[in-house]
Amino acid sequence: MENTKKKSGFASGIGFVLAAAGSAVGLGNLWGFPFKTAENGGAAFVIIYIACVLFIGFLTMICEIFLGRRSQANPITSFKVINKNVGWFGLIAVAVPLIITFYYSVLGGYTVKFAFNSFWGNTGNLTNFAGSEWQVILFTAIFLIFALIVVMGGVKDGIEKASKVLMPALFILLLLVVIFVLFLGEGVSDGLKFYLVPDFSKITLSSVLAAMGQAFYSLSLGMGAMIVYGSYTGKEINLLKSASMICVFDTFVALLAGMAIFPAVFHFASVEGIPAESLKLQGLMLMFETLPKVFESIGPIGHVIEFFFFAMVIIAAVTSVISIMEVSSQFIIQKFKIKRKIATLGVAVITFALSIPVGISLGSMLNGGSILQIFGMDMLSFLDTVTNTVLMPICALFSCVAVGWFIGSKKAIRELCDDGFNQKVATALSYLIKYFVPLLIAVIEIFGVIGLIFPSGTFDVNGLGVALTSLAIVAILIVVYFIWLKNTNTGTNMDEIG
Ligand code: PHE
Repeated sequence: MENTKKKSGFASGIGFVLAAAGSAVGLGNLWGFPFKTAENGGAAFVIIYIACVLFIGFLTMICEIFLGRRSQANPITSFKVINKNVGWFGLIAVAVPLIITFYYSVLGGYTVKFAFNSFWGNTGNLTNFAGSEWQVILFTAIFLIFALIVVMGGVKDGIEKASKVLMPALFILLLLVVIFVLFLGEGVSDGLKFYLVPDFSKITLSSVLAAMGQAFYSLSLGMGAMIVYGSYTGKEINLLKSASMICVFDTFVALLAGMAIFPAVFHFASVEGIPAESLKLQGLMLMFETLPKVFESIGPIGHVIEFFFFAMVIIAAVTSVISIMEVSSQFIIQKFKIKRKIATLGVAVITFALSIPVGISLGSMLNGGSILQIFGMDMLSFLDTVTNTVLMPICALFSCVAVGWFIGSKKAIRELCDDGFNQKVATALSYLIKYFVPLLIAVIEIFGVIGLIFPSGTFDVNGLGVALTSLAIVAILIVVYFIWLKNTNTGTNMDEIG
């Protein structure tokens, strides 16, 4: 009889790599990376970003996959087997993705609506849609149902199968959009210049920090996802190779996304005779306001390209959200020994319920209101700041510290060498993981929190509120761990029933 462990894991190395790349490639690649690149000196920023991926992201990813794989269990057990007193590192790694799901699903709902509407036209619709509560709730639900179906199917038959189809599809759609845009003619070369011409004078400490932060978010580090996906792999997967492939793919998609976006925007600006910089080139506004206008100005074929574009964004968002839904589901399945379908449904229902206030708050903000704001921010920005700026770096730091200090670099080397690592490479990596990476992550964290409390040099009480809330979350999780989880069984992948 097939054992349960096999049943709940990835069937193949490439399945794992595609699923992990699916987690990594998300909204962060499509709207975060291109804009940050353009703003921070083009190709000069790309070079720094690649260095961050190589020296921080890649090594942290190795730590996270390694932690999951050696325990074959959820993040809490993964840390507990190292030392019972640090199991709470794992509880943070389970809580952070849950918080992210509450707002990511709302954005996912936006992408479904915009894809659906591509053929009729999305120009100028952002505020109408965002302000229509029932529509936001409906599309968030549709998005969550996509994700739910995949996660309910399990790791091998749900997540792996979906990733194997969706990731190549995403790539093809992206290539089609890029090729189409590059042949638009007028303005295209200006867009490429704006995006990629290196300007080293724009590289400052803050651009380096931006690159580090972006690398973390983009690679899905510090949110439990890689620990969980890593737990579903075994010795047959080469850790070094898999982590490299995930990093390369993620970076490549981010770069290509900019090559679709900026030439299209500059083409539009040139045709309209307006300066491109006057258009909104960042985040939510770039994706849901500027780009629809740009695509739709091209005529009927523009609508088709717009649909391809949003279909690609949905894929990117779904394959990301399933990875974080899996984190909570896996823990519930293993801790309470309940069936996957029930656990996942529970997670989806809770996520849906909490995404409603987030959606309402965001819609109100986009329409100039201030309903359901926390510390002067709409709920999406609030949750995003709490997780991105404070909790994710902490969580990533703990993964490196656990590997470098708690497992101990010597023991870690031995285990990594069992994986077919060259001894010299393993020794070098273990030093980097022990000293270099934690130090850099600590720097990101410290500057991130300072930037929050003293934006542009002046004290901001709301920023302090966000920082204190994050600390309170960590404190509560520590208490919960010691009271409830430290001395009870937290389960492993073997506990998945059915
Ligand atoms: N790497 C993802 C991105 O770029 C971040 C993320 C992963 C967000 C999983 C949510 C869920 O968007």
